[in-house]
Amino acid sequence: MEQRVIETLKILTESDKEACDLVKVSENEPVRGSGKRLFIESYGCQMNFSDSEIVASVMREAGFTTTSTEQDADLIFLNTCAIRDNAEQKVRNRLQHLNALKKKKPGMLIGVLGCMAERLKAKFLEEEKMVDIVTGPDAYRDLPRLVEEAETGQKGVNVFLSREETYADISPIRLNSNGITAFISIMRGCDNMCSFCVVPYTRGRERSRDPFSIVQEARDLFANGYREVTLLGQNVDSYKWTAPAGAESTLAAPVTFAQLLEKVALVSPDLRVRFSTSHPKDITDEVLYTMKKYDNICKYIHLPAQSGNSRVLQLMNRTYDRPWYLQKIDRIRAILGEDCGISHDMIAGFCTETEAEHQDTLSLMEYARYDYGYMFAYSERPGTPAAKKLVDDVPEAVKKRRLQEIIALQQKLSLERNQRAVGRVHKVLVESTSKRSDDDLQGRNDQNKVVVFPRENFQKGQYVHVLVTECTAATLIGKAVELEAVS
Ligand code: SAH
Ligand code: SF4
Ligand code: F3S
Repeated sequence: MEQRVIETLKILTESDKEACDLVKVSENEPVRGSGKRLFIESYGCQMNFSDSEIVASVMREAGFTTTSTEQDADLIFLNTCAIRDNAEQKVRNRLQHLNALKKKKPGMLIGVLGCMAERLKAKFLEEEKMVDIVTGPDAYRDLPRLVEEAETGQKGVNVFLSREETYADISPIRLNSNGITAFISIMRGCDNMCSFCVVPYTRGRERSRDPFSIVQEARDLFANGYREVTLLGQNVDSYKWTAPAGAESTLAAPVTFAQLLEKVALVSPDLRVRFSTSHPKDITDEVLYTMKKYDNICKYIHLPAQSGNSRVLQLMNRTYDRPWYLQKIDRIRAILGEDCGISHDMIAGFCTETEAEHQDTLSLMEYARYDYGYMFAYSERPGTPAAKKLVDDVPEAVKKRRLQEIIALQQKLSLERNQRAVGRVHKVLVESTSKRSDDDLQGRNDQNKVVVFPRENFQKGQYVHVLVTECTAATLIGKAVELEAVS
């Protein structure tokens, strides 16, 4: 059944390039069972998109099929993000719009899920009267009950945060899938207390999912034609799974992230393995050597820095300083070579950041020679340590200007890094038709760079060797150099 589902779901809306601003919408499925239809719209990070696939699975058991048209829905879920104020504003605006729809269709129910639901809890129901259900990220198994109650007119809230829930036994229904690349959630929550960040409050304590179900999910995906999995967690390098006491298990010692990575890499040499996010304090040489050992573990690391200045990093409670971060970059280059792709997250204008400290961020970026970056202006989040103890004193205009400088530098670095790729042959996993032309295909190389090339007779899911002949800061452009697929 899982196989059939995967085949019927395709890519849908991607309204924005920046990962944190993507909005994804559920796909149209043939109506079955009770005939009730669910529309899910997801905001925020990949963890949320991944959770929506769990939610679709839970709701299918309760007789709902997904739709891509909100007007057709009996039930609308917004899976929300709380990371910055503008992420929350977007959801508020969306709710206003849905309110108009609800007035025309009084039986329709609206549920708010995810991080903003967890942050605001029952307050949501007071602030946004059209909302019927509020559910936090650890309570999705309870959704069918909450929906049933709401159908009788009773509003429902479950924002219980769990220390154990990993949804390990739930087979996600792949939404917005290209059928080639998929995400596997390997842990939930976060135990780091970065002072700016709302995630520890919205997603609770860190917990790791058992390695057996992770490897099984990777195997199933491979059997269904998928050729790339990305292991997901807020801080994947602190993955640690210990067999429960008394359980019959062949694994006596705890499983580390490096060991998990190896297990997934061994599923098949034709299955690419990626992972995100790495915290600079936790990524070990063992992980770097495991990456080196397996060709199918992609040589690409997302290593958020947040700032290039030690004083600011300390205020952020990142638990590393500038020299530590630089030395991590050196280790990556020493073990995996110059070509290893590295990307970052950076925050401009954190509390009390001076002009000289901002310059440190720019010089750290030059040193790291990042391939890509996700860059943000600091947005104070209520309840976080920074909101309680520090003053958000960098004027908005200064934050924006510093952010622009960071973005401009990244553009330059991305272009330089892409230029290194020109004139070389890259192994590309084909994901889809190119966004610009039906005559071209697009996929990504090992370093996660998008490569576009003429379609010829190649198909998605194939590995193709492409000679890159030109580039922009965002894309490599080339031509296949072998007529046969590599595998
Ligand atoms: N777990 C990941 C990040 C998750 S949030 C990590 O540790 O790196 C994604 C990114 O959003 C963060 O890396 C940070 O750059 C940004 N971010 C988080 N809180 C923010 C805030 N209050 N204002 C601006 N950007 C923020
Ligand atoms: Fe937030 Fe820090 Fe945890 Fe990342 S590691 S989710 S930035 S608290
Ligand atoms: Fe947003 Fe929650 Fe992800 S706050 S970035 S959806 S973990």
